Amino acid sequence: MPPTDPVNPTSPTQSTEPESTRNLSGAALTDAVLASFAHGDSPRFTAIAQSLIQHLHAFLVETRLTEEEWAAAITFLTRVGHITTEQRQEFILLSDVLGASMQVIGTTYPCVNGETESTVFGPFFVAESPHFANGDDIARGAPGEACHMWGVVRSVEGEPIAGARLEIWQADEDGFYDVQYADLAAARGRGHLFADDDGRYAFWTIRPAAYPIPSDGPVGDLLKAARRSPMRPAHVHFKITAPGYRPLITHVFAQDDPYLDTDAVFGVKSSLITPFERHEPGVAPDGRQMATSFYTARYDFTLAPTDAA
Ligand code: BEZ
Ligand code: FE
Repeated sequence: MPPTDPVNPTSPTQSTEPESTRNLSGAALTDAVLASFAHGDSPRFTAIAQSLIQHLHAFLVETRLTEEEWAAAITFLTRVGHITTEQRQEFILLSDVLGASMQVIGTTYPCVNGETESTVFGPFFVAESPHFANGDDIARGAPGEACHMWGVVRSVEGEPIAGARLEIWQADEDGFYDVQYADLAAARGRGHLFADDDGRYAFWTIRPAAYPIPSDGPVGDLLKAARRSPMRPAHVHFKITAPGYRPLITHVFAQDDPYLDTDAVFGVKSSLITPFERHEPGVAPDGRQMATSFYTARYDFTLAPTDAA
C-alpha cells in the first residue's frame, strides 16, 4: 500500500490546495507556500505562519542568500540546539541578543497604566530560592561591597501592596551568579521576601557588577562576528508577584554603569535606572553600624492589575 496523505486520506495524490506545487520559483513559490498555510488549526496560527513565510521568503530573495550561507545558518542553529541543556538555554540567549525578547516584552506589556517597565528574564533565575525576612542579608557571603536596597511596592493607584512577593537574584562583584560556580553548595545573592503591610521591602546584598553574557557558545560566536560587546550593565533582577496583579519581571540598573547604552540584550529602560550611593563607614538606614563603606539604592515598583490592557 502506498502511503496516504494524513490530512486528506481519500485523495492520496491531491493536496487540500487546488494549486499545484510544481514548477514554482520566486513570488509564485512564496504564494504557493502561503496558500499551503491558509487553513491552519486556528486563525492565529494561520496569521503567524503566513507572516513568517512572507518575511522569510522576502529575506531570502532580498539578500540573494546562497545555498552555502543557508547551510551555515542551519549549522549555527544546530549548534544552538546541541549546547542547550536544562542548565543552559542558548535559544533564549539568541532571542535576547537579537532583541527579539525585548520586542515581545514591549508588545505584550505596553506599559500604558504607569506600571513599572518589564525587561528580560535572563537564564539565571532559580525557582526554589531561600526565604528571607524583610531587612535580611541575601548576599550570604557573595563577594562584593555591602549594599542596602529598599523601596515600596504599589498599585497603579498608589496603594501599597502588602505581602507582595519579591524574588531577587544578581551577580557578584566578579560578574558571576551563584549558579555559575561549579562548587557552591548553597544559594548566594538570591532569595525571596515579602513586602510589609505598607508595601515596603528592604534587604542587604552586595553592589552588583557589570558582566558578559555567556559567550563561549554559538551566540558568543555571533557577537564576535558582529564585533559586538557581550557586556550587560550592573543590575539586580526582580520578579514581583501579588494576587490580583500581573507578575512583573524586571531589573534595577545602577546609574553610573558605563554599559547602560550598550546592553548586549537591549534590556535597559531609563525608568529602571537608580543611583547606588556610596557611604563612608557609619550608621546605615536600618540602624546597622557599618565598619566599611557601603551603598544604598532605592527603587519603588508599581504593579498593573491582572486585567490591565
Ligand atoms: C541576565 O541578566 O541575567 C541575562 C539576560 C539575558 C541574557 C543573559 C543574561
Ligand atoms: Fe542578570
